[in-house]
Amino acid sequence: MTSIPALQYRGITAGYGRTTVLRNVDLVAPAGKVVALLGPNGAGKSTLLKVAAGLLAPTGGTVQVHGKDVTHLSEAQRAGRGLCLIPEGRGIFRQLTVRENLAMFAGGKKVAEAVDRAATAFPILGDRLGQEAGTMSGGQQQMLAVSRALVNQADVILADELSVGLAPVVVDEIFEAVDGFRREGRSLVVVEQYVGRVLGLADYVYILNKGQIAFVGEPEQCRDDAVFDRYVGATH
Ligand SMILES: Nc1ncnc2c1ncn2[C@@H]1O[C@H](COP(=O)(O)OP(=O)(O)OP(=O)(O)O)[C@@H](O)[C@H]1O
Ligand SMILES: [Mg+2]
Repeated sequence: MTSIPALQYRGITAGYGRTTVLRNVDLVAPAGKVVALLGPNGAGKSTLLKVAAGLLAPTGGTVQVHGKDVTHLSEAQRAGRGLCLIPEGRGIFRQLTVRENLAMFAGGKKVAEAVDRAATAFPILGDRLGQEAGTMSGGQQQMLAVSRALVNQADVILADELSVGLAPVVVDEIFEAVDGFRREGRSLVVVEQYVGRVLGLADYVYILNKGQIAFVGEPEQCRDDAVFDRYVGATH
């Protein structure tokens, strides 16, 4: 028996206004696995994550979470099914303090526990609970953004470009948290420009090019696959 995927896209077509960005995209994120979603700038990676999270309605196709169709559910309803997007550009509340952000992520419930989880993963956040989030360094802000998935206990996590603009040592810390999600058995779709690190973590790799899936495989296949090199090779 095959187990039910954590997240499944079937035949997704989507875009903005009259521009079609994604064409007939199929993607499966198996339960407890990490999918790396790679591809050049403008390929449609963020758009695909937005379609899953309920921020952009597809014009065709379906999205299922744990085998149930969520295509017509709101963002909040999908969050209730265990889906969490850590968006490109962080998605934190810059004017609120770190503690207030964590409270928002936790939906106002069990805030002390939320703070505890975030501070355990990222001790620096524990030291900065009263600081306005927008005044923290880029790396600290990204740690806070990742804490969204830590505190809301989502079991399907969509992470968009977590390492962008960060120093390597901070990227290590962020990836350690992502690996923690994996060890806890959560399912992930990770978009990354810096391919080497995510390949070390991923179970499956999808490459999106011009809104279509150009490659599906396992990380080991990527080393000697011409399609992979053509679309992503320069960065790994
Ligand atoms: N809100 C929007 N309105 C109109 N067009 C958009 C919007 N967001 C994205 N696009 C367009 O959709 C296409 C795909 O964008 P998307 O952000 O999904 O790409 P991406 O693969 O995430 O790229 P990057 O690696 O640069 O983040 C691009 O051509 C982009 O200009
Ligand atoms: Mg993007």
